[in-house]
Order: sequence, then structure tokens, then C-alpha cells
Amino acid sequence: MGISLGPIKAARSLWRILRGKPNIPSSLQDNALLRTLLHRRSVRSFSDRPIPDDVFAAILEAGRLAPSTVNLQTWAFAAFTAESWRATFGSDIPFKGQRALIVMGDTHRARTVLNAFPRSPLVEYTVAVMNASLAAMAMNIAAEALGVSSVMLSETGRSGLLDAGYLRDKLALPAGVFPLLTIVFGYARGAYPPMPPKLPLEQICFQGRYREPDADVMADWLAQMVAGYKASHIFSSFDAQLKVYQAKIGRAEADLQKIVFHDPEK
Ligand SMILES: Cc1cc2nc3c(=O)[nH]c(=O)nc-3n(C[C@H](O)[C@H](O)[C@H](O)COP(=O)(O)O)c2cc1C
Repeated sequence: MGISLGPIKAARSLWRILRGKPNIPSSLQDNALLRTLLHRRSVRSFSDRPIPDDVFAAILEAGRLAPSTVNLQTWAFAAFTAESWRATFGSDIPFKGQRALIVMGDTHRARTVLNAFPRSPLVEYTVAVMNASLAAMAMNIAAEALGVSSVMLSETGRSGLLDAGYLRDKLALPAGVFPLLTIVFGYARGAYPPMPPKLPLEQICFQGRYREPDADVMADWLAQMVAGYKASHIFSSFDAQLKVYQAKIGRAEADLQKIVFHDPEK
């Protein structure tokens, strides 16, 4: 890997990021739900204002009612206040969030009454990941609609996919229940960050046959990712962050094999 940018390219890339905004057709500018969805951002700085119980209950309700394959609801949510997170993990919720949810895939619960996916671990796992991710997004948008901001995390040291083994022990998870991500909720401290570089629609949506990515567009996107990361993490770099992920993946893979596919060898 190892990508570095000269100062001119870095400045140009940052300028591009700052100019990025959602495309909302002028005829639809007044649609409140669309605006909520398209102006959502991952927020990583929260005030100490608490989230009222009824607001958090409404967020959870959005997860409970999310769509799922055959309505199997293959998810579980571990809910935390700042206090219960501290009691469980010995640290503050990341970014000083006021509430957190660890969202899990759960193929255990339905199995107690229904053998839904006999001998198809990969399908079972994939289905559970899809469904739990949809529930996570529903809760994220419900929060946004209620003025509560959030960020989803897979890597905060001890809180998601990359810490599955640790969380299994902490939360007493049975086989078939596997952590995917943590959602941290709170009221944003200050303005939302700029939109990180999103690929143009032509790169991600095709009609007919799959189209190979455009090399220039992809190089430009990567330059913006690198420049954007550097601007918000002066003492780190996009490369360094990738290495952190890569270093954890081996252990995470073994943990997941064990708790998802019940492989006793791992
Ligand atoms: C499954 C998932 C895991 C993520 N993990 C992290 C994480 O560990 N740390 C972090 O700072 N952001 C994390 N994010 C947030 C992404 O960095 C963010 O969604 C992305 O940069 C796009 O920005 P946006 O959400 O503002 O559009 C995660 C997002 C998702 C969906």
C-alpha cells in the first residue's frame, strides 16, 4: 500500500471533499425524510446532554420493526447507558456517547423453535449479517430523525466484529450470536463534519453488464480518502489505520470461525 500525496494534490483533494454535497432534485428539497437520510453523517464528538428514555425507546423500536429474511429477525441488540458501558468495559463509551448498542447477528434465537438453515453456515451467517445491518441502519436513521446523532463502529478496541471473542465472553453470547458493530448515540457537539468522499453514481450503479471501475475516478477517490484522513487525524494516516485493521483481522477471523461456525479447533 503506502500512498502519500504531495501538498498540492492533498490541498486539491481536501477542497473536493469540502465541496461534496448530496444531490437532491430541486422538486424534492422539502422532503423531510430524504433530507434526514442524505444529511446524516457519522458523528464522533458528542455533548454530555443525556438521551431521554422515550427517545432511545423509539430508536430501538425502529430496530425491532426492521425488515428481515422470512421475518426471522436474526439480530440481537445489547443496550448500554454511559454507566452500564463503563461497568461492563471499564471505559467511557467512545467519543463520549450517551448510549450505545452492540448489534449482533443472532441465528440462535430462531433456532430454538425452527431449524431455519440446516447445514448452510455461510448462508445462515450472511442472512444474519444482512438483517442485523438493516436493523442497525433503521436505528441510525430513527435517531437522526429525532435529532440524535450516531456513529457505527467495528473497531474501537473492544466493541465489534474485530473483538468478537472478547465480547462473547463479556456478554455471555451463545454459539450463533456474533457481534457485528457498535452504534454510539449522542447529541452532536458542534456542526456535522463534511461529507467524506462518496463515489459518483456511475461508478456504483450499472445497467446491463458490470462495468469495470474507472481508474482515474478511483485514484481520485483514494487521494481524497488519504487527504481527508490526514486532515482529521494529524498524528496518524490512512495507511497506519489500515495496518491497525489488518493486524486484527487474523484473530477476528479465528474468533468468528469459532462462534459463528462452532469450529471447536479454533
Ligand atoms: C459497519 C461499519 C463500521 C464502521 N466502523 C467504524 C470504526 O470502527 N471507526 C470509525 O471511526 N468509523 C467507523 N464507521 C463509520 C465510517 O467510517 C463512515 O460511515 C464512513 O466514513 C462514511 O461516513 P458517513 O457515515 O459520514 O457517510 C463504520 C461504519 C460502518 C457502516
